[in-house]
Amino acid sequence: MHDEPARETERKRQVDLESEGIHWDQDMSYGQYLALERLLDCQHPVSDQHDEMLFIIIHQASELWMRLCLHEAHGAAEHIRQDNLRPAFKMLTRVARIQEQMIKAWEVLVTMTPADYMSFRDELGQSSGFQSFQYRELEFLLGNKNARMIEAHRGHARHYAHLKAALQAPSLYDIVLQLLARRGFDIPEGHLERDWSEPYVASPEVEAAWAEIYGDTAQHWDLYELAEKLVDLEYNFQKWRYSHMKTVERIIGYRRGTGGTAGVHYLVKALELQFFPELWSVRTSL
Ligand code: HEM
Repeated sequence: MHDEPARETERKRQVDLESEGIHWDQDMSYGQYLALERLLDCQHPVSDQHDEMLFIIIHQASELWMRLCLHEAHGAAEHIRQDNLRPAFKMLTRVARIQEQMIKAWEVLVTMTPADYMSFRDELGQSSGFQSFQYRELEFLLGNKNARMIEAHRGHARHYAHLKAALQAPSLYDIVLQLLARRGFDIPEGHLERDWSEPYVASPEVEAAWAEIYGDTAQHWDLYELAEKLVDLEYNFQKWRYSHMKTVERIIGYRRGTGGTAGVHYLVKALELQFFPELWSVRTSL
């Protein structure tokens, strides 16, 4: 778009748009705003196999969605910290909707058969979703703290420092428990101030607080709504994990993962993880 005739065509297009009442900012175009040149220049297959493009794009799309999940979940945590629940609800709802997209995405990926994947898998070396720093940050933010997981990022100083900070910060659930304490619920001291990098340990007092909230929803409506938003989030996270595990089983069977784990067995084990344990255990007694 640097030659004179092209500029003239563009100018005429803007005049036409303006005559229709549409104002055009000359400094901004769709492609520039979205950095499309760069975005669409990030797909570099390492093999000549047709299906590798799907494999690359599904990972990139998932990483973009994770980026938005982090943005929204951090925003929600900040609002909860300030006792401002309404905007937090909107953000948590958005996270849940994004997760639905990410779960749906597995249906696109399973159009790739084992033969398709095997045709380029050896070219991937040791690269694996296991090394996704955004996924790890999301897990830390939601409350699955595991210090060993940041070791995979030692080679990248910025990611390592960022993940270490996320590991040492209170999770969304920790922030919610601080809110419950401010609202007068009896939350143990050790759940309000502690070494946040340690895994969360469920407590009967926290379960009792949720039981009280679920027991009188009219009185505790906003906390009840918050609890259900968290359950949505964890429920969807588990559905994503489960679909990932079944997709992996369908495509590579019981091979070891490129990231060095036992593969499907590692992914099955991850299904035991819980972010908000008392929100699940309380349901038995309601
Ligand atoms: C053919 C498709 C895929 C296969 C065969 C596959 C396989 C695996 C395996 C075996 C693992 C365990 C770690 C390892 O040893 O590598 C893993 C982890 C992981 N994969 Fe995938 N994967 C696939 C697609 C995807 C996609 C599309 C995403 C989206 C971002 C993804 C994200 C992850 C994440 C975040 C982990 C870490 C999970 C955790 O630590 O709990 N994977 N994958």
